[in-house]
Amino acid sequence: MTRGKVPKNLNGVFRRNGPNPFYQPLGKYHWFDGDGMVHGVRLKNGKAFYANRWIETSRLKQERAYGRPVFMKIGELTGKSGLLTLISQKLKARLGILDLSKGSGQANTNLTFHANKVLALHEMDLPYVIKVLCSGAIETIRRASIGPPASQKPPEARTKNPKAERRTDPPATANYPPPLRKIEEFTAHPKVDQETGEMHFFGYNLYSAPHLTYGVLDAEGNLVKSIPINLPNGPAMMHDMALTKRYAIFLYMPLFFRPKEMVVSGFPFIFDPEMPSKFALLPRDAADASEIVWFNLPAGMIFHVANAWDEEGKDGPKVHLYACSTSDYTLNELVSSNSTKGIHWSREDVSVTPKNNTPYCLTRKAEQNSADMGRFIPGAHGGMGMSTRGDATVDFAAIPRRQLHAMGDPAISLRAASSKSRDILNMSGEETKSEEDRDTFALFHFTFDPATGLATQRRIVDPKQEDCDAYLLEFPIINPRYAMRPNRYVYMATFCDGMKANGFVKCDLTKDEGGGWATMVVGKVEYGKQRFGGECVFVPPPGEEGGEEDEGWLITLVYDARVRKSFLLVYDAGTMEVVAEIDLKTRVPFGFHGLFLGEDDLQKQMRGSTTSGGENKGGGDVEMGKV
Ligand SMILES: [Fe+2]
Repeated sequence: MTRGKVPKNLNGVFRRNGPNPFYQPLGKYHWFDGDGMVHGVRLKNGKAFYANRWIETSRLKQERAYGRPVFMKIGELTGKSGLLTLISQKLKARLGILDLSKGSGQANTNLTFHANKVLALHEMDLPYVIKVLCSGAIETIRRASIGPPASQKPPEARTKNPKAERRTDPPATANYPPPLRKIEEFTAHPKVDQETGEMHFFGYNLYSAPHLTYGVLDAEGNLVKSIPINLPNGPAMMHDMALTKRYAIFLYMPLFFRPKEMVVSGFPFIFDPEMPSKFALLPRDAADASEIVWFNLPAGMIFHVANAWDEEGKDGPKVHLYACSTSDYTLNELVSSNSTKGIHWSREDVSVTPKNNTPYCLTRKAEQNSADMGRFIPGAHGGMGMSTRGDATVDFAAIPRRQLHAMGDPAISLRAASSKSRDILNMSGEETKSEEDRDTFALFHFTFDPATGLATQRRIVDPKQEDCDAYLLEFPIINPRYAMRPNRYVYMATFCDGMKANGFVKCDLTKDEGGGWATMVVGKVEYGKQRFGGECVFVPPPGEEGGEEDEGWLITLVYDARVRKSFLLVYDAGTMEVVAEIDLKTRVPFGFHGLFLGEDDLQKQMRGSTTSGGENKGGGDVEMGKV
């Protein structure tokens, strides 16, 4: 412990997913390419345990069998050689060198909890069910299978959740519900309706139609809806979605997949500023995609949504959506130029798993301390730390450095790379953008009125409005208890240099009166010199709902480049002051999204992952937790 104390009532497991390549990449490397590694800290009674593990994906298992990287990486998809790489992967699959039947994703993007299962997510693959042990370490259970049974059962047998039935009661027509489809793709950002227990998701397919599929899992994890959706402008990257009580909202941004243009433009994902951003509002009780209401807005790119809700009116609901967006974006800036001196990757900084897969063991002292936290199983590989007695002091001194996996600084840049000036007029009537005033991610407020077909977008908080180090806002989060209903506070990471977040801000949406940053940013945290973080996870206080919206904690990992170590930071979400800082004694790679499991959910997923809970009880053959 370097500062403060872990609150005694903050008990559970903080986990954060992110890329960490098991093998040193042979070619160019993209930040999205690394194998999924889950890092995290178990907090209990003021003590802390750190652990990390790779997720045992089909891809990782196959590469481990070959002893080298054999799968295609996004970073390699550049120029003519990129096209050859794309063809080569298909050829390898035909020749049996690669088995793509079990997916090729890295499970490196997000974690979520549903139907008593913890899922590791990657948008180019199905989820992996993992089990979080009482110690905080994880075990990979299996790759999920989501789809209908061999013979679909009568529609009336499908809906098992009475709340869901009430909420999304479909029209009584002979054609409803449509046949369920086997799910092949799954987003890294599904949305769980906390009231019904349903998980709403989508999956996009770059290579074949349908390029988009919307699906719903009921509270038990059974597939109860799957709707194919045609994308009128071809396949595109779609990272997040939004959910309100009435609508599932799909963000069809003009970041198109055009592999043939790789030869000319150098990268297969092309942001086309001449095309609109299209927002698809599909009623949750829709029978098929014909009920979608499409809205067009000026070209933009959204990776992450903060929240969305319905505002009821006499003519029907008006939908509000808050998200971080930019009108200019390129994905290829996340590619390192060299495999050994890459900006995400440095040989000297990353310890590759020992050849013999020797388990990393706790010291005797730590094992003694972990006894009251359940059985600590080191697993096949992966670094870990351990706590000592006292107020969550973490002592990693006995852990060989080579066993503590960490990566170099991702000094990549998300800044817009376009060199051409062009006119982009957004709905708020802002000035034309020029290359001197390049656009980056800011917080936007979107509204959609299905009754009139009108949509608006407005940039409400932009770091350029303030003289501060940050140039970009991303990773928006809220108190999860306020999802799908009007909320007040949005927390966002502030990026100062590439994907280095130097802090985060707290925005008050009720103060949106045109003042922008000056009036809406009501709290700001700076990690300090040479200290960088990423997304925060909001943890409401344990117990029943109530209290203020900003009552709770914000937890994040911060890397201190001066001492080459990472720290777990716990902030009071109300005051934005540090509550606790825990020295992890090692460097943790920058990553993506995290999850906090409270004590109850921790126990539920322990049971759910080791029993047949979640297996098919209705119409789907979902086996999210069957092992
Ligand atoms: Fe994401």
